[in-house]
Amino acid sequence: MKSSSATAQFGAAHRAYHLMSTDSVILEDTAADWLLGPPLSTVLHIAPLRWLFWRPLFKKVRLMSAFVVIRSRYTEDVLGQSIQDGCRQYVVLGAGLDSWALRHRDSIVTVFELDHPATQQWKKLRIESRMGSLPPQLTLIPIDFEHESITDLLPRHGFDSQSKAFVSWLGTVYYLTRGAIRDAFASLANSCAPGSRIVFDYFLPKSMMLPTDQQLFGVLDKGGTRRGEPIVTLLDANEIEEVLCSTGFRIVEDLSAADIRQRYLSQRSDGLDVPGFVHLCCAERQKAG
Ligand SMILES: C[S@@+](CC[C@H](N)C(=O)[O-])C[C@H]1O[C@@H](n2cnc3c(N)ncnc32)[C@H](O)[C@@H]1O
Repeated sequence: MKSSSATAQFGAAHRAYHLMSTDSVILEDTAADWLLGPPLSTVLHIAPLRWLFWRPLFKKVRLMSAFVVIRSRYTEDVLGQSIQDGCRQYVVLGAGLDSWALRHRDSIVTVFELDHPATQQWKKLRIESRMGSLPPQLTLIPIDFEHESITDLLPRHGFDSQSKAFVSWLGTVYYLTRGAIRDAFASLANSCAPGSRIVFDYFLPKSMMLPTDQQLFGVLDKGGTRRGEPIVTLLDANEIEEVLCSTGFRIVEDLSAADIRQRYLSQRSDGLDVPGFVHLCCAERQKAG
C-alpha cells in the first residue's frame, strides 16, 4: 500500500451513510462524516451526486456496508464491557477512520491507533483541520504489519504490558499475508496482559461461499485490487482457532453471519443483511503456563 487506504475511507463512508439513511441506528458514528471529508462526504450529502455516484456502488456492496457498521457496533459493545471490567487501554489495529477516540474525548481510556503511515498521516491532517490537535488520550503509531512488530512499538509509546488492554482489528486481516497475521497475534500475546481481549473480523474461503456471496466477494476483491489493497488471506474457523490457540489466546466467541443476523438484525424489518462469508471473533489472552 503506497497511499492512504481507500478501503478505510469507504468504511467511514458506510458508517456515515448508515447514520443518514435509517431511523433504526445500529452505530452512531457521528464523526465518520467530518473525518471523511470531501469528496466522499460531499457525494453523500448532495442528493444528485448521491444518486449518481453513491447509490450504484452501495447497491453492489449493500451487505458489506451493513457488516462494516455492525462490526464496529459489536466491537464497541465488547469494548464497553471491558471498560466496565476495569480495562483502561484500547489498541486499534488498522484503525483507518475509526472514530471511537474522537467521540470519547473525555474518556479515561488511553487509545493507541496503529495503522499504515500513509493512512495515519491522512487521518491526522483531517483531525487537526477539524479539532486543532489530536485528543490528549490518543496516540498514533505508524506500522506496517508485514514488516514490523507490535511488541517492539507499543511499549515505546507508553503502553503498559502489565495492565489489561482491549484490542480491535477490523477490516484488515484479509489484506495481510498469513505470516503477518500469525506474527501480529503472537506479538499481541507478548505485549498484552492475560485477560486482554481482541475483536477482529475475517472472511471465509471462496469454496464456502454461496454463489451470490461469491459475486459480492468478486466486487470487493476487484475494487480492492484496483486501489492497491488486494484481499490476500481467507481463513476458516478451524484455522483461526489454531492460530489463536498456538499464539496464546482462547476464543470467547466466533460469530458466523447467522449469529450476527440473530444478534443485530432479527428485530429489523428493513431487510438489512450481511454477507454469508463474514465472521466476527472475540478472543482472550490466556494466562501463560
Ligand atoms: C478496510 S480499512 C479498515 C479500517 C477500520 N478498521 C474500519 O473498520 O473502518 C483497512 C486498514 O488496514 C490498514 N492496513 C492495510 N494493510 C496494512 C499494513 N500492511 N500495515 C498496516 N496497516 C495496514 C489500512 O491502512 C486501513 O486503515
